[in-house]
Amino acid sequence: MKLWGGRFAGGPAEALARLSVSVHFDWRLAPYDLLASKAHARVLANAGLLDPEELGEMLAALDDLAIAVETGQFRPTVEDEDVHTALERGLLERLGTLGGKLRAGRSRNDQVATDLRLYLRDHARRLAGQIGELAEALTEQAARHVDTPAPGMTHLQHAQPVVFGHQLLAHVQPLLRDLDRLRDWDARTAVSPLGSGALAGSSLPLDPVAVAKELGFDSAAPNSMDAVADRDFVAEFLFVTALLGVHLSRLGEEVVLWTSQEFGWVVLDDAFTTGSSIMPQKKNADIAELARGKAGRLIGGLVTVLTMLKGLPLAYDRDMQEDKEPVFDALDTLELVLPALAGMISTMTVRVDVLAASAPIGFSLATEVADWLVRKGVPFREAHEITGQLVALCAVRECELHEVSDDELATVSEHLDPSVRQVLSVRSALSARITPGSTGPGPVADQLAAVTESLIGWHRWATATVVPR
Ligand code: ARG
Repeated sequence: MKLWGGRFAGGPAEALARLSVSVHFDWRLAPYDLLASKAHARVLANAGLLDPEELGEMLAALDDLAIAVETGQFRPTVEDEDVHTALERGLLERLGTLGGKLRAGRSRNDQVATDLRLYLRDHARRLAGQIGELAEALTEQAARHVDTPAPGMTHLQHAQPVVFGHQLLAHVQPLLRDLDRLRDWDARTAVSPLGSGALAGSSLPLDPVAVAKELGFDSAAPNSMDAVADRDFVAEFLFVTALLGVHLSRLGEEVVLWTSQEFGWVVLDDAFTTGSSIMPQKKNADIAELARGKAGRLIGGLVTVLTMLKGLPLAYDRDMQEDKEPVFDALDTLELVLPALAGMISTMTVRVDVLAASAPIGFSLATEVADWLVRKGVPFREAHEITGQLVALCAVRECELHEVSDDELATVSEHLDPSVRQVLSVRSALSARITPGSTGPGPVADQLAAVTESLIGWHRWATATVVPR
């Protein structure tokens, strides 16, 4: 069964049919297509194009088909070109010729754009829920380590001590921005293309505004050509998932480092690690590595769609059929990665002793000395120079900053005296950090409270219904 054919002398070539078919992936849109069909049927009835009895039969058949789709009783076949074709077949099987009335005023062009928006708006909420769960796992770990000193790094070199909770929350903040981006995206995606037809709207008295409302959209598209040509919502969604993938890969990389023999900062639960087929002792952070590795396909999906769209003439082009697999793949990928990461993070054991011992190593308190000199009125430029000389002396002596003798302190600079040792502890360095957003236990506790609060709000957003059932 085809949705076209009247003007063709013969059937399609096998090679064309095989290239053209999309039902094996766009079948996911079936429930949304049926939802949009019900809205369209009501509009046709209001326009007097279906009588009340026909509308009743049509809606009943669509509901019946929806159940058959859900239970798997109705399935697409290789003969069905796409989800729209398959569902029209299902409708005709149930209604006979009446089934053929539904297509009036509608094209697959506005249909597919509508279906994909509905699908993605629905799934964006699910994705937000999964992001929220990972953010929660990180936040719960952070709550246990508001007072755990750790070596803070830049360039992967010891820089300044931090509390480990601060570092964990530094992985939550990007996720909160990802959630923000999803919500912004959702507001722009809440526009209904249905009623735009192939590209020019319809000569039939349709009601795009009513359809938009019924489908949970905020408004109807202001331009029918743009409505069927626009895939910004796909590209933007893929940007959000690509960037999310990048965030997860950075977290993954950190966990790989943390679990290495050299760092030894955390121990992962057995259930969230894998072994080696040859080396019996191995325990690998495969989840973290897969999170890192999957970023490639998430970025690839964005590049695929942007490249496909670039230079396409208005309005709809068949190229655009290539928009779906990347978003489906992004969602499938994240649905695997996010829960695994959340489980790995929430079950990992942080080695507080290792972190604390490592925090002051590498002269990470040197900045405290420079700041101490600044507080005594020494210009920072000079303070930096003096502290650098102190570090150089320690490197030669193979000692730590606080181990330099009183005499040697005086030889480095007249501004240095034994009271500088007051700032030469990790504890004092951390508790001196009281400005908002800094790594002191106080500001980190504040950050933790704010993050926890905002995650509650995100949970609400993620579980709200946008697409009516
Ligand atoms: N399978 C198509 C797609 O995903 C549906 C729209 C087809 N429209 C058309 N004029 N051939 O884009």
